[in-house]
Amino acid sequence: MMFVLSTAVFFILAFPAINSEVVDFSKCSEFFFNGQSPVIPGILVNSNSQNNNYQTICQKYDGRYRFATLYDTTHRIPVFSAYKVTADVRNSETTVWMEEPQLELPSDEMGMPYENQATDEDYIDNNLDVNRGHLFPSCHSGDEVISRSTYTLTNTVPQKESFNSGSWNRMEMETIMLMAENCHDSEDQNKVLAHVLTGAVPGKNKLNERVNIPSFMWMTFCCYNSSSESWISQAYWAPNQDENKADNVTINEISLQELQILLNKEWVNVVQLFYSNCNKKVIFHWY
Ligand SMILES: *[C@@H]1O[C@H](CO)[C@@H](O)[C@H](O)[C@H]1NC(C)=O
Ligand SMILES: *[C@@H]1O[C@H](CO)[C@@H](O)[C@H](O)[C@H]1NC(C)=O
Repeated sequence: MMFVLSTAVFFILAFPAINSEVVDFSKCSEFFFNGQSPVIPGILVNSNSQNNNYQTICQKYDGRYRFATLYDTTHRIPVFSAYKVTADVRNSETTVWMEEPQLELPSDEMGMPYENQATDEDYIDNNLDVNRGHLFPSCHSGDEVISRSTYTLTNTVPQKESFNSGSWNRMEMETIMLMAENCHDSEDQNKVLAHVLTGAVPGKNKLNERVNIPSFMWMTFCCYNSSSESWISQAYWAPNQDENKADNVTINEISLQELQILLNKEWVNVVQLFYSNCNKKVIFHWY
């Protein structure tokens, strides 16, 4: 009875807010460096999914695109979310968690467990010490509307609670400060701008026998450093593991190339996360 009731209430709350689009990434190319999404041969090429098990989502909220997500419907977790950092840390507010109806076939009935994605129910009462970990963290959003838009389950993976609130959270806070200070729009150096990708690699365990618990998580950014007048990138990765027993765990800080080598092993393919490996010529206009 409780299950039925809470599900019904949840759907009433969640549905009106959702407006994302499962299309190719061309409508939300602004969230990718140089307008081009990562290349993962066999999975994502030219901003198009190459495989029905991977859905490209332009995350639309409150009438505008806010970020982009590549969603793995087999594991029911995102592969990555892509977004822009345009400002310093803002307060994040919690809100209702949203789902993405367009990942489902039209025949799916209200109240049935979603077939192709994680739901609120999957996260309730788990004894695996995982909670909802944002890929695009609300603390990296430029304003409160964008912050609210990050609370969608398609932007979320089961993350070990102590890792989520521990070293991963510290890394999110440190990188936003780093980007706000160092990253500027190459065409308007008064503006902060960085393109960020945050992703997860599927692991061996499942939450609620449905949702994959990632083995590790990663983040990388690419931006123009106006002080050095060059494009810079930085990457981070860490295993998704309980930190309660460990000493003060820190995230591995690595280069973009090193991250790509790690991901190549997972995808058995040569991936390119940023156009031209985050190395774009700045065009000077001579009039
Ligand atoms: C940006 O460039 C300045 C000047 O060369 C340098 O001191 C700084 O470390 C650079 N920032 C990053 C994040 O690489
Ligand atoms: C862990 O280390 C970070 C940075 O090195 C520090 O800011 C934080 O306070 C430390 N936390 C604990 C629990 O020691």
